[in-house]
Parts: sequence; structure tokens; C-alpha cells
Amino acid sequence: MKLARNLMLILPPLLAVGCIAAQNATSGTTQTAQAMEPITRMAEADPADPKTVPDPADPKAVEFFQTKIQPILTQNCMGCHSDQRHKGGLSLASREAIIKGGNSGPAAVPGDPAKSVIVKAVSYADADLKMPPRHKLSDEQIADITHWIELGVPYAAADAPAQK
Ligand code: HEC
Repeated sequence: MKLARNLMLILPPLLAVGCIAAQNATSGTTQTAQAMEPITRMAEADPADPKTVPDPADPKAVEFFQTKIQPILTQNCMGCHSDQRHKGGLSLASREAIIKGGNSGPAAVPGDPAKSVIVKAVSYADADLKMPPRHKLSDEQIADITHWIELGVPYAAADAPAQK
């Protein structure tokens, strides 16, 4: 009888501790799931809206990239953002690399200049991120970069034959 009474004293606290531990474990997983959610949503958002994001493979769009944007990147950015030297974690050497982005996430959101870090950087809108660091691009160049992102970030390797 004495043993049973002792058990009654020990068991409830043990159960309580067990419950709290289980609760913590569950809320831990929910938190991780919530933190993951925006990332999944962003990945889905990219190809999800073909109506607003134009086809980046459109020959006219690629030509715009080759004639207007590629020279800007080569002359003002690639010294620091190539595959070899990616300052801020960012390479501008391919469409994939640009969309993947650097330390602060995607550098360009196809079709959405307002959400694109590149546009923020070249327009000197943020005192902490001004690109290129030593001189601001011309208004025309900044407008071209904005338009390039509206076109869905068309890209072609620097040595690819120019589109006709
Ligand atoms: C002289 C080197 C240099 C040049 C040239 C340069 N950058 Fe950068 N860039 C950096 C450094 C360093 C960082 C890291 C952030 C910082 O220190 O300000 C960076 C960061 C960035 C970022 C943010 C990356 C991230 O995810 O945090 C973007 C976008 C960017 N640069 C775009 C450009 C563009 C577009 C050009 C050309 C128009 C350019 N940069 C030219 C050095 C350079």
C-alpha cells in the first residue's frame, strides 16, 4: 500500500513534465514550418503569373539585354559581381545567379522592379547599398535596368551571338 501511495505522489509531476516537453517539441516544429512558408511562396510566385511576367526568351527582349544592359553590367558591375568575384554574395553572370541573388536574397524579381534589389542599388535609394559604389549610373541607364526587369530579366552569355 505504501508503495502505491508513493507512486501516486511521483507520477503526476512526471506526467506534467512529459506534457510540457511534448508541447515544446510541437510548437518548435510549427515555428520552423511558419519560417519556411514565405520561402516556398516566393518560389511559387515566380513562374506563377505568366500574364504579368513577359517571356524572357523573347528575341526582342534578349536583344534589349544585349544592346542596352550587357554593356552597363560589363563596364560597371562585373569587376565585382562575376562568377569569380561575387561581392555581397552576388554574381551577375547569369539570369539564374541574378534571380538567386546575394546575401540579401533575390537581386531581381522578374517583372517587378519595385521588389528588385538591383533597382534599389543603382537608383541610390538606400544609403547603405549604392551600386556601382563609386559613381551613380545615368538616369537613362537606370531606366534601362528597370525596363530590363519589367521584361522578365532576359539574359544571354556575354559571348553569345547578338540577336537579329
Ligand atoms: C567596386 C566593386 C563593386 C562594383 C563595381 C559593383 N558592386 Fe555591387 N556590391 C559590391 C559590394 C562590396 C557589395 C556588398 C554590399 C556592400 O558592401 O555594400 C555589393 C552588393 C551588391 C548588391 C546587393 C547584394 C546582396 O544580396 O546583398 C547588388 C544588388 C549589387 N551589388 C549590384 C551591383 C550592380 C548592378 C553593379 C553595377 C551597376 C554593381 N553592384 C557594381 C561591390 C561592387
